[in-house]
Amino acid sequence: MTVFAATQAAGADGIVVNHLGTTNTLVRVTDTAKYVLLPVEESVEDAKLDLLLDGNVERTFYVRLARNKVDYYVPFDISGYNGKNIIFNVVTAQGRASVREAKDDACWSSIRLSDTFDTTNTEKYRPAYHHTPLYGWMNDPNGMFYKDGVWHLYYQYNPYGSKWQNMTWGHSTSTDLINWEHHANAIEPNSLGSVFSGSCAIDSLNTAGFGKDAVIALYTSAGINQMQSLAHSVDNGATFTIYPGNPIVTLESEARDPNMFYNTATGKWNMLLAHALDHEMLIFSSADMKEWTLESAFGKGLGAQDGVWECPDLLYLPVEGADESKWVLICNINPGGPFGGSSTQYFVGEFDGKKFTADTDSEGNVPTKWMDYGKDHYATVSWSNAPEGRKVVIGWMSNWQYAAEVPTRQFRSANTLPRDIMLFKGDDGQYYIKTTPSPELTALRAQRSSNVRSKGVSKKPVKYALPTANDGICEILFTINAKKADKVVVTLSNNVGDKVDMTFNPATSTFDFDRRNSGITDFSYDFPTVVSAPTLRDSNIQTLRIYIDRSSIEVFDGEGNFVMTNLVFPKAPYSAITFAAEGGKATINNLEIYPIKNTVK
Ligand code: FRU
Repeated sequence: MTVFAATQAAGADGIVVNHLGTTNTLVRVTDTAKYVLLPVEESVEDAKLDLLLDGNVERTFYVRLARNKVDYYVPFDISGYNGKNIIFNVVTAQGRASVREAKDDACWSSIRLSDTFDTTNTEKYRPAYHHTPLYGWMNDPNGMFYKDGVWHLYYQYNPYGSKWQNMTWGHSTSTDLINWEHHANAIEPNSLGSVFSGSCAIDSLNTAGFGKDAVIALYTSAGINQMQSLAHSVDNGATFTIYPGNPIVTLESEARDPNMFYNTATGKWNMLLAHALDHEMLIFSSADMKEWTLESAFGKGLGAQDGVWECPDLLYLPVEGADESKWVLICNINPGGPFGGSSTQYFVGEFDGKKFTADTDSEGNVPTKWMDYGKDHYATVSWSNAPEGRKVVIGWMSNWQYAAEVPTRQFRSANTLPRDIMLFKGDDGQYYIKTTPSPELTALRAQRSSNVRSKGVSKKPVKYALPTANDGICEILFTINAKKADKVVVTLSNNVGDKVDMTFNPATSTFDFDRRNSGITDFSYDFPTVVSAPTLRDSNIQTLRIYIDRSSIEVFDGEGNFVMTNLVFPKAPYSAITFAAEGGKATINNLEIYPIKNTVK
């Protein structure tokens, strides 16, 4: 019998690499260290890595291990496993068109041990005052809760690459909704699957039996199928213990993103679950958060029905200026948004603890309402237990159409700014969400750099400089009085030819945002677009509040009637704002420009 030796490549110090065949390689760790640094090439397929500890599979995860060149490294923390036999059993993908020997891949000579991993920012497009992961991919915000002065934000995270994979709950906290501190991953994949979106609540009545004020998380375990799982934390959300009885809810069809809250009217917990492909939200109730009863389903045939329904939330919101509150059901949908791809629709109505009934319009139809009119607002849900009865929401600031292609590499995706929401009654008798930037954000303002009381504008543009420090990050406020003008165009521009045009049209009661020439736009056919928001008022006056943060622009209507969130990738920071009026003269009033404080990271 002939015995062939496995091929052994020269691994780095403390690493021994054995090739077992065309697609299988064992990587043995023979020294102690904090991390194994895994070399990534973004354009190749994932390799499957089984981490074996003393011969048993501890974890399975996927990394785009470099074939031709190393784009960047990701750290895999092995500090907890020192003293054990650590082997990564790696199966590399073989494209049919490129049968090749895995042993030739670039990763084997560059995989190495390290006690450090440098997370210093290397990205010019990383926002300064929006939450981003230090490295790796992020999508939906998850399980947000407020407790003891701390805002907790979990998020869909891939710690092993800047594209979607290995869904894990990353964790950050803030005491001011501006500065975020990054923490260890909170919930990691296990044998039931990866950890998809979900919610947290504080169990102040100890209904689940994990102790008074335990933090309970519900999330989707995504394996071959999607099931709902529970975990609890007794250290204020730093670490979670996975419930041994998981999964706690199973269905025959795809359902995910459990969102729960304590219903004080019924003394029970309610949970919404996105019945993704069926375009409906399932509503459950429970006394103990472990056993859930399906009460009803909402949404079949209502609202925007394209794509999948995801990430629900159900909130009781006060109506501005009235002694009234209404229930609002948030439904994220992808694709099928008004401008293509991902978006957030909502329904206003009544909820009796079992069933949600949406209000109708004057013709008896359930209207489709959108929470944000930009292209980059998705998976928005609210914080549980926010102080003073506030309802604070945050979204993922991207769009599934191109999120994995945007021109960053160290990290991908940021969150929107936090927003406080309530309801207002529109002139059409309908209730709409009123969105304002969370009040904490005014603390971002440095010394005002422009203050213009009133300036007449006509065809010839009037120009003001934007701040230059810190890549021009700023907040801009002003009021347009269009008077008899047909349109007023507000333009952000730089001196390399990039620009964003925003157009207020009082006759159509619309506000448009055109990013077709905003900078780098060619990474996706779906990126260069014009989006349009209804101002929901019949007026030639439009007040605006605009936040610019390197690669994002959030435009808030001054009274909260609309908001639009859009990514931009200007080749140089926008350095000027110009105003021009078409078809008549207009005025710009109370123009205030605030650079953002340089204390912001
Ligand atoms: C929404 C979503 C969720 C899912 C998660 C997976 O963006 O598709 O439905 O839980 O992302 O990362």
